[in-house]
Amino acid sequence: MLVNAKDMLQKAKAGKYAVGQFNINNLEWTKAVLLTAEELKSPVILGVSEGAGKYMTGYKTVAAMVKAMMEELNITVPVALHLDHGSYEGCYKCVEAGFSSIMFDGSHLPFEENVAKTKELIQVCAEKGMSLEAEVGSIGGEEDGVVGMGECADPEECKKIADLGVTMLAAGIGNIHGVYPENWKGLSFETLEAISKLTGDMPLVLHGGTGIPEDMIKKAISMGVAKINVNTECQLSFAAATREYIEAGKDQKGKGYDPRKLLLPGTEAIKATVKEKMELFGSVGKA
Ligand code: G3H
Ligand code: ZN
Repeated sequence: MLVNAKDMLQKAKAGKYAVGQFNINNLEWTKAVLLTAEELKSPVILGVSEGAGKYMTGYKTVAAMVKAMMEELNITVPVALHLDHGSYEGCYKCVEAGFSSIMFDGSHLPFEENVAKTKELIQVCAEKGMSLEAEVGSIGGEEDGVVGMGECADPEECKKIADLGVTMLAAGIGNIHGVYPENWKGLSFETLEAISKLTGDMPLVLHGGTGIPEDMIKKAISMGVAKINVNTECQLSFAAATREYIEAGKDQKGKGYDPRKLLLPGTEAIKATVKEKMELFGSVGKA
């Protein structure tokens, strides 16, 4: 059964570890993430961007696939199905489709509008037993058409949004979506410390989890980050393994065409990446 992300994230915050959000794109992605979470007895969040939702033909299809797959794979660990970087309209569609969690990304809006819409969606989520993630400041780079300038969040604004009663708060602290550029300055721990102090028990979310050095991940967790989003890294692993399989002629030297065989190396590579991240985030055995 799907759960919202509240309980798993509050436990993570108190226990000083983080739950991974792994974005899904199709059946193979979903299966790889669910099986790894079950094998490692780790809670997990399946992230669905608006682009990926469209690709999978719509949020209802996604929710039905995830629920049926969990049943048929006998998944017993807590799993939240979460809209990633949702628009106002996208949030309502996911509420209707049966997601257990949503992110309303109002970071590009004037702050007062972000507050008003977040407030309204908190109410909707409360009625449905869902969790809600809000964003303050913006995550740099681009993910599935969502472009951010990467400015650090204002801690006072974070407090105002946290006080509305969101379940988790994403704050820009110098993190970037996609592959980090070589001249990246690193996370702003100064900003994270200020946000942490003002928001108390609020589980903080670190987006752009791909390629952040391990020591920064561990430090961020020790300072209150309880959810870390990973998307690009699974895509890179999937692409590399698929390319290697074909280029090495393992597909019957170019004659193979069974999609189940062609997709297998990439699926196994996603599992390995998810395992590595769950071990790094400390969520193994926490289900
Ligand atoms: O919202 C999803 C993420 O923040 C993932 O970022 O693609 O850099 O891993 P990433
Ligand atoms: Zn993100």
